[in-house]
Amino acid sequence: MDIKRVGVIGAGTMGSGIAHVFARSGYAVVLCDVEQRFLDRGLATITKNLDREVAKNKITIDDKASALKKIDPVTDRAKLADCDFIVEAATEKFEIKTEIFRDLDRLARPEVILASNTSSISITKLAALTRRPDKVIGMHFFNPVPMMKLVEVIRGLATSNETLAAVRDLAVKLDKTPVEVNDAPGFVSNRVLMPLLNEAMYAVMEGVATAEAVDEVFKLGMAHPMGPLTLADFIGLDVCLDIMRVMQDGLGDPKYRPCPLLIKMVDAGWLGRKSGRGFYQY
Ligand SMILES: NC(=O)c1ccc[n+]([C@@H]2O[C@H](COP(=O)([O-])OP(=O)(O)OC[C@H]3O[C@@H](n4cnc5c(N)ncnc54)[C@H](O)[C@@H]3O)[C@@H](O)[C@H]2O)c1
Repeated sequence: MDIKRVGVIGAGTMGSGIAHVFARSGYAVVLCDVEQRFLDRGLATITKNLDREVAKNKITIDDKASALKKIDPVTDRAKLADCDFIVEAATEKFEIKTEIFRDLDRLARPEVILASNTSSISITKLAALTRRPDKVIGMHFFNPVPMMKLVEVIRGLATSNETLAAVRDLAVKLDKTPVEVNDAPGFVSNRVLMPLLNEAMYAVMEGVATAEAVDEVFKLGMAHPMGPLTLADFIGLDVCLDIMRVMQDGLGDPKYRPCPLLIKMVDAGWLGRKSGRGFYQY
């Protein structure tokens, strides 16, 4: 499969990072969001992160200029019609992704693979919205996308071997390491990570230790670069709660019960770093 032109839907944290790595690897990128201001914000982030790579001598000034030239920001989704591959990184809401996948299926050529960067929505369900379920797949990048090596490649029930091979190849061309997993709530990354963060919250709620102490244990004892509560604040406590609920609903095991302290903090609007307060103050 000859992929030259890539569509990216959503120019937020992840979409801008995904557009960055595709453009830096030589692909033409059509970056689509619903409003010009979101595209402007995404392009400002990409420019800042490319500058950082220039400062670290990872790329040259010319590489930066040519990467930026490769990104075409659009609000009109119809401009993705001539893309050879499309990855969706829009807001994590099933209704939003439903509308996008139905529309992409209508406008993209029938052989084009449609990937989603979703953290928790079923790839099998997204695939079933289209007439090409064999060509729908999860391509789960990690934040910050330009730095993180992993791409969790999620195979839906109907995803074909050809689609899987094409997306693995593409990840390697982006200088990432693809790891294949099957579709299940939380995939592997969140299935294992979120219960750890949730349990760390229980430890704080039950007075076993302070947030600082829990984080120190993981940093010094397990060599984690940041402790679980710092990480939860970074991810966003609302996002953590949503993912715990997806696993609770999808797997039905009480071990996925969200920590009551997490629910209370989200109710209070303490969402972590982005709201200025979570387990820590920012
Ligand atoms: N933030 C993370 O650490 C992370 C990590 C892995 C995966 N994800 C997943 O990536 C996706 C995006 O997350 P994010 O953190 O970048 O969110 P974000 O809120 O930073 O960005 C989402 C963007 O999507 C845009 N959008 C919403 N509806 C749209 C539509 N119909 N068409 C085009 N654009 C639309 C929004 O305007 C916004 O700019 C989610 O599915 C999330 O679960 C996030």
